[in-house]
Amino acid sequence: MKDAEPQAIRLADYAPPNWLVNEVQLTFRLAPRATRVLSRIRFRPNPEAGGRAFFLHGEHLKLIRASVDGAEISPRLVDGGLEADVPDAPFTWEAEVEIDPEANTALEGLYLSNGMYCTQCEAEGFRRITFYPDRPDVMAPFTVRIEGPEPVLLSNGNPTASGAGWAEWTDPWPKPAYLFALVAGDLVALEDSFTTMSGREVTLKLWVRPGDEHKTEFAMEALKKSMRWDEEVYGREYDLDIFQIVAVSDFNMGAMENKGLNIFNTSAVLASPDTSTDANFERIEAIVAHEYFHNWTGNRITCRDWFQLSLKEGLTVFRDQSFTADMRPGGVSRIEDVMALRGRQFREDNGPLAHQVQPDSFVEINNFYTATIYEKGAEVIRMLKTLVGDAAYRDALDLYFARHDGEACTIDDWLKVFEDATGRDLAQFRLWYKQAGTPRLDVTEDWDGANYTLTFRQHMPATPGQNEKKPMVIPIATGLLGPNGDEVVPTTVLEMTEAEQSFTFEGLAARPVPSILRGFSAPVILNRETSPEERAFLLAHDTDPFNKWEAGRALAKDVLIAMITGEEPPLAAYLGALAAMLRDEGQSPAFRALALRLPGEDDIAQTLFDANVTPDPARIHDAAETLRQEVAEHLQDMLPRLAAECVVAEPFAPTGEQAGQRALALEVLKLTTRLDGGKAAAAMFESAGNMTLSLGALGCLLDAEKGEDALAAFAAKWQGDALVMDKWFMMQVVHAAPEKAAATAEALTAHPAFNMKNPNRFRAVFGALAMNAAGFHHASGKGYDLLADWIIRLDPLNPQIAARMSSAFETWKRYDADRQAQIRAALERIKASENLSRDTGEMVGRILA
Ligand code: ARG
Ligand code: ZN
Repeated sequence: MKDAEPQAIRLADYAPPNWLVNEVQLTFRLAPRATRVLSRIRFRPNPEAGGRAFFLHGEHLKLIRASVDGAEISPRLVDGGLEADVPDAPFTWEAEVEIDPEANTALEGLYLSNGMYCTQCEAEGFRRITFYPDRPDVMAPFTVRIEGPEPVLLSNGNPTASGAGWAEWTDPWPKPAYLFALVAGDLVALEDSFTTMSGREVTLKLWVRPGDEHKTEFAMEALKKSMRWDEEVYGREYDLDIFQIVAVSDFNMGAMENKGLNIFNTSAVLASPDTSTDANFERIEAIVAHEYFHNWTGNRITCRDWFQLSLKEGLTVFRDQSFTADMRPGGVSRIEDVMALRGRQFREDNGPLAHQVQPDSFVEINNFYTATIYEKGAEVIRMLKTLVGDAAYRDALDLYFARHDGEACTIDDWLKVFEDATGRDLAQFRLWYKQAGTPRLDVTEDWDGANYTLTFRQHMPATPGQNEKKPMVIPIATGLLGPNGDEVVPTTVLEMTEAEQSFTFEGLAARPVPSILRGFSAPVILNRETSPEERAFLLAHDTDPFNKWEAGRALAKDVLIAMITGEEPPLAAYLGALAAMLRDEGQSPAFRALALRLPGEDDIAQTLFDANVTPDPARIHDAAETLRQEVAEHLQDMLPRLAAECVVAEPFAPTGEQAGQRALALEVLKLTTRLDGGKAAAAMFESAGNMTLSLGALGCLLDAEKGEDALAAFAAKWQGDALVMDKWFMMQVVHAAPEKAAATAEALTAHPAFNMKNPNRFRAVFGALAMNAAGFHHASGKGYDLLADWIIRLDPLNPQIAARMSSAFETWKRYDADRQAQIRAALERIKASENLSRDTGEMVGRILA
């Protein structure tokens, strides 16, 4: 029998907790199949609560005994927890429960990964460890005693005592249960230290499994840089004697900011030149920073409830993006951030999974760790900073920390701080949190011989449950260039608040060329019809690196769209502009590499759909292939010189500068492969002294269908390294020809090293299948069927990952009737599978709605 439909949880129903917690003491007696957890919790009535009823969350727990103020009681076990009769005054709760870490394949709560114990409690995993008010507005100091034969026993806070077979940790900072962590196992640490701005010495430890020691140094350096940056830029100092990071191979997400004891997916922390690409290094630096920055934005100030998730995630992503921009200057990181935003968040915002940065309701909170909460949330904060200015932003943040330290807050608290610090009314700005969807911005211009007027119109398509949209505040950073390419009006922020609004620049000597939405100053889709010549002009002359890149991308898009819809593509203008850009040695290799890349096939599909053209993934793929071939032939003479220019002479370093050189070298190699059939790529694969070039060359060989030997050599060399083997799985699917993608993925699931219980490996195959747009959407429907089969298989083991993978189907309404019917059938099949999790059930329901 199927359970009743899971109930939605609503922001409007928020009520403060009846009981607050003064103190938590936990004792863990570790055993793989039967860990005992003893809890001693001091409760006090919440004066702000509406009642005294006592409920504790608890799931998958075996209750051994419970007592109130020392007297044994028999609590009523109810759905999702227990209820008990308690005094109308402070009391002490004690309980003993038994849990089974080995059986925990969902990787939530306490589980075993590769023989080591670890935890993941955000969002609602702590209730799988013991009975507790598992909600973020209940904060308490924790003392944790761990007993077990494992040589290393870790929890949050500072170490306070230890002996043979046990250790005790005390975290003095009140925290919600989602920040609890425990790790136990055979681990080794890289140790370092950091002296804070007030002169306190903090011990830093990065724990890994024996054998991974050589992959720890980079993350440790990133940690120290992050600690310094947060002091210098935000005035935030670390607050415990020790900060630890642990690398875990089975982990649902990238990493987790548990107080003083961050737990990381190995892929988000372990790095070496031999095994990691430049992109891996950059991602690791960003995630280490992100988790560290949570210590203030997330931990010291946390969320009142999960509707406020973007309060910590949007802000912390904004902080890590700012950090990366400082560590890797040159404007490239902003371009990368926007590419990721468009690829994931715009896609989400323009389909059935669109939701508000602050949602009004959810069924399963794990389904809301999304690009909208994270990346759009960061864009909203970036806009706020643009609108109030840098100095006022810093004042507002100082006020935020001063006013709310130690509290569980709301997004409205956050906006109030900005209103109080700046005197601005943010009522309209708040719509960015409450209206889902991506605004469209249409621009027209007028020139009267001396004055130049830009007129903007904003409109936003309906999203699920929100048909009417109000005009938003949109900061439009704009500069004007003169006919010779000089900047005649420097960047000015036009503040749009109406549905339609004009801005006039007076007294210009000649008709200017506008550079609109510099730095991507708002997460909108800018529609501006203009000539290929003007786009080429901006690619050559714009002083804003983002808009310079954007001009080239827009031109490439114009070419591809025209090729697909059968119009005359502005090919000559595009090729000429690309060649000129590549010859411009004032441009960094990193920038030139990005400018050489074509817009993604998924992006083209969305653009066609917006123009009322049903996208055909096969045609989009063919057009992209044809254009790449044209580019290769047109640039033929320049390629050898460019290749020579990007050879890195110095020893490998994971710097932005070297990464840029390698990125350009690989863009050149891709083009060269189209001309030489893979000769240069084979040579590169042989001689590459680092993973970036090795993997790039392998990709070229796979594209040329000459990858067999290289794949075999790669596997032979790296079979003992799980993170590198993830790349080996992923590359084959990403680079498979459209008609072979599903079959390639399916064959890989039969490989002895495929393990569906490991999220990284599952994603390496199926995340890659979803990334191969033409392959996933191949007319045979095999991609859809295969993914549905594996979501159904994974769901009982790991609902979080199964649910996440189902978003591969979120774009289905764009496509033709045949594909829609195939996808609908796949989704219906998932929906009908027995005991479908609440996670996947909610996702599939929303996609089908
Ligand atoms: N707070 C973590 C981070 O952003 C992510 C944890 C998400 N976990 C989850 N089960 N949804 O760094
Ligand atoms: Zn985060």
